[in-house]
Amino acid sequence: MSKAGAELHDRVRSFTDRIGLQTPILLAPMAGACPPSLSIAVIRAGGMGSCGALLMTPEAIGDWADTVRSQAGDAFQMNIWIPGRPPVRDREAEAEVRRFLANWGPEVPPEAGDGTPPDFSAQCAAMLEARPRAISSVMGLYEAGFVKEMKARGILWIAGATTVAEAKAAEAAGADVILAQGMEAGGHRGSFDPDTAGTRIAGTMPLVPAVVNAVDLPVIAAGGIADGRGVAAALVLGASAVAIGTGFLRAPEARIAAAWAAALAATGPDETRLTRAFSGRLGRTVRTAYVEAVESPDTPEPAPYPVQRGLTLGMRTTAAKAGNLDGIQAWAGQSAWLARDMPAGDILRTVWADAQALLPGSA
Ligand SMILES: Cc1cc2nc3c(=O)[nH]c(=O)nc-3n(C[C@H](O)[C@H](O)[C@H](O)COP(=O)(O)O)c2cc1C
Repeated sequence: MSKAGAELHDRVRSFTDRIGLQTPILLAPMAGACPPSLSIAVIRAGGMGSCGALLMTPEAIGDWADTVRSQAGDAFQMNIWIPGRPPVRDREAEAEVRRFLANWGPEVPPEAGDGTPPDFSAQCAAMLEARPRAISSVMGLYEAGFVKEMKARGILWIAGATTVAEAKAAEAAGADVILAQGMEAGGHRGSFDPDTAGTRIAGTMPLVPAVVNAVDLPVIAAGGIADGRGVAAALVLGASAVAIGTGFLRAPEARIAAAWAAALAATGPDETRLTRAFSGRLGRTVRTAYVEAVESPDTPEPAPYPVQRGLTLGMRTTAAKAGNLDGIQAWAGQSAWLARDMPAGDILRTVWADAQALLPGSA
């Protein structure tokens, strides 16, 4: 094997040994789409499970960890968004958004945007208590006190970054691992600054080697990776592991709405959209009539996060019940079309076997 090939294998093995995994594949954290069943299947197949805890109460975080640990062990991470600045409310602009949304779902009451997310400190305490192997951050960095608490418990900090500058800031703040999220990724972009989430964008292919060169930490690649070719490419680019989100969403254990799962299969690489239409923060979804209507110059700008999330709740709930794709928050990465309708464990095993066959040193 070449020196570079041997270095790749050593790099990957040193990461999987450190985190205690058989394969360098992580289920990406996906708030709202990460039932214990999905992580249990991924962990049993040798990967890392994941809990997107953003919308979960502290009790629900504890229950999730207990369920997964009792059935598959503790090879899981917990993930949360770092809270951003509070939204600047504009009731007149919100009224226009509410009028627009009534075309796509039920009438939206004025107080729909007033909801507050679960208490961040209580969620953080619950994540520590859940004793995962890792805790990850997105949209910013944990403050020093929390980082100390993680380290005292031997919990690794996986810090999400969408730019080299964010990765460097995470390293300086004490992160153990960087997750480099390319703009191909499904769901919200993890950009620290919501104002530049749509302009400072880099794809996984250029971002991963740039982050690998910039920091002295293992790098997990995420964004548009959904088959063995993508995994092998990311490892060749210098990543120590990959995180796959959309590629697991059609697995029965993910339990997403049937209309969303069907749309993933039919969504080509050029058919997703980066939009603030659902939550007020930029995320990548399936292109639907609703998302396209929000992009029209005649449509009022979505409200800031989390106001827009509250305003669209009625539409999203009604659409999910009716199986109507248009109002569903159908997050999707650019490799959605590669997502397989297979048990999650089989997806992980197949993707890893296909990647291994492509990596240096394979027969
Ligand atoms: C449905 C969905 C929900 C997501 N929720 C979160 C989240 O709560 N926290 C987070 O850090 N990333 C979240 N992401 C982003 C993923 O963790 C990951 O970066 C992304 O899925 C990788 O790209 P891929 O979808 O092309 O595999 C979400 C992605 C999806 C598809």
